[in-house]
Amino acid sequence: MKKAIIAMFAVVAFAGSAFAAAQENYEYKGGSFGKVSFNHKTHMKLGCTKCHEAMPPKKIAVNKDYAHTKGCTNCHKEMKKGPTGCKDCHKK
Ligand code: HEC
Ligand code: HEC
Ligand code: HEC
Repeated sequence: MKKAIIAMFAVVAFAGSAFAAAQENYEYKGGSFGKVSFNHKTHMKLGCTKCHEAMPPKKIAVNKDYAHTKGCTNCHKEMKKGPTGCKDCHKK
């Protein structure tokens, strides 16, 4: 049921033409600590509004401040899943 709802959101989202589709995977430069990859596809099952404030989803600017707080690290800590150590996210 939950999956069906998410699938419906996805269909509604992609049916519109005012916004871009998400990539399966994003890669960030991450400065001297090395690249960070973010698999959008595997994260989608968590529910769009966990990260996107409203539907349809808009682009999110992923920078250091966002990533190291609510954008990535806080959720991994709260859920006790996903990387929380510097070198678990940043790869040379
Ligand atoms: C774990 C957080 C997270 C979840 C959950 C999530 N997204 Fe995203 N999404 C992002 C981030 C971060 C970006 C921006 C990536 C970038 O451009 O660097 C993004 C980008 C997008 C974009 C591209 C927007 C643009 O204009 O470039 C779309 C469309 C999108 N997401 C749709 C969805 C849908 C639909 C769902 C639910 C099925 C979803 N997202 C779930 C974090 C998330
Ligand atoms: C809303 C919660 C949430 C947010 C926000 C979130 N993650 Fe995750 N992340 C998870 C969970 C849960 C897992 C574990 C998935 C599993 O084990 O099935 C995970 C796993 C990962 C993994 C391990 C590989 C994989 O894809 O399963 C990486 C790398 C990762 N996240 C990077 C990021 C980055 C980078 C961001 C920010 C752009 C981010 N995550 C934002 C919840 C989140
Ligand atoms: C959950 C994943 C994650 C963890 C854990 C994490 N980072 Fe990041 N970090 C990111 C992302 C995503 C960015 C944004 C990358 C970008 O803008 O190119 C970033 C940005 C940075 C930047 C800035 C790069 C720039 O040029 O602006 C530095 C430096 C950095 N991180 C160091 C660290 C250190 C040190 C730790 C451990 C204390 C750490 N990171 C832990 C994901 C993570």
